Amino acid sequence: MKIAILGGTGSIGGGLALRWAMGHEIIIGSRKYEKAELTADEYIKVLEEAGNNCTISGCANADAVKEADIIVLSVPYEHIESTIETIKPNLENQIVISIVVPMEKAGCFKYKTPLSGSAAMQIRNLLPNGVKLVSAFHNVSAKKLYMIDKKLDMDVFICGDDDKANNVVCKLVKDINKLKPLIAGPLEVSSMVESLTPLLVNLAIYNKMKHLGIKCV
Ligand SMILES: NC(=O)c1ccc[n+]([C@@H]2O[C@H](COP(=O)([O-])OP(=O)(O)OC[C@H]3O[C@@H](n4cnc5c(N)ncnc54)[C@H](OP(=O)(O)O)[C@@H]3O)[C@@H](O)[C@H]2O)c1
Repeated sequence: MKIAILGGTGSIGGGLALRWAMGHEIIIGSRKYEKAELTADEYIKVLEEAGNNCTISGCANADAVKEADIIVLSVPYEHIESTIETIKPNLENQIVISIVVPMEKAGCFKYKTPLSGSAAMQIRNLLPNGVKLVSAFHNVSAKKLYMIDKKLDMDVFICGDDDKANNVVCKLVKDINKLKPLIAGPLEVSSMVESLTPLLVNLAIYNKMKHLGIKCV
């Protein structure tokens, strides 16, 4: 599939790009075309040095969306509105994956509940009707994704209102070595999944652990 990662120049967008590029065509989206191109070249180098063939290109966010079947929104919560505004003219019926977690540091890390209830519900309201939104990957550490040879023995909770789109995202989760998709419910429960991320960060800090994830047993 053709996957555009908006903010693919950043931490988790880069990790997802490296993992998926071994089986999909990846388009790195950025506010700046040159940054996207340079980053795409860096990812190609990393994968080729590890002996993998891949197809990764870079372009401006709005152009990345035009060509893609799947769009991953991988920018900080504060910038989702401006990013969606830029790409809106090129959105039709693609699947958008939100990995966005609104959180703040106030002593410890806390979930910063948006007025709509969650980042996913806010994004849903900003997207055209034909676009299918799926919320996923909130509790996966960027650092672990970058370790491309490492098996990620953890679960990915998926929230979405469209079964077909959820299934497509489940397959994309399984494409990453040992990640397991679990359907958590409709988009309206995304707040529960998003809010687990600051919990994981606090657990890591207080217990001197690194890059925690979740596994249901
Ligand atoms: N890091 C993690 O482990 C992790 C885990 C789960 C979920 N998440 C979520 O994933 C999303 C991305 O996190 P991240 O850690 O990868 O963030 P990041 O590295 O800080 O930023 C990602 C990208 O966002 C773009 N960006 C920065 N400022 C922007 C602005 N003013 N307007 C539009 N785009 C802007 C930048 O791309 P360009 O400069 O190229 O445009 C940047 O490379 C966040 O919503 C976060 O909550 C992160």
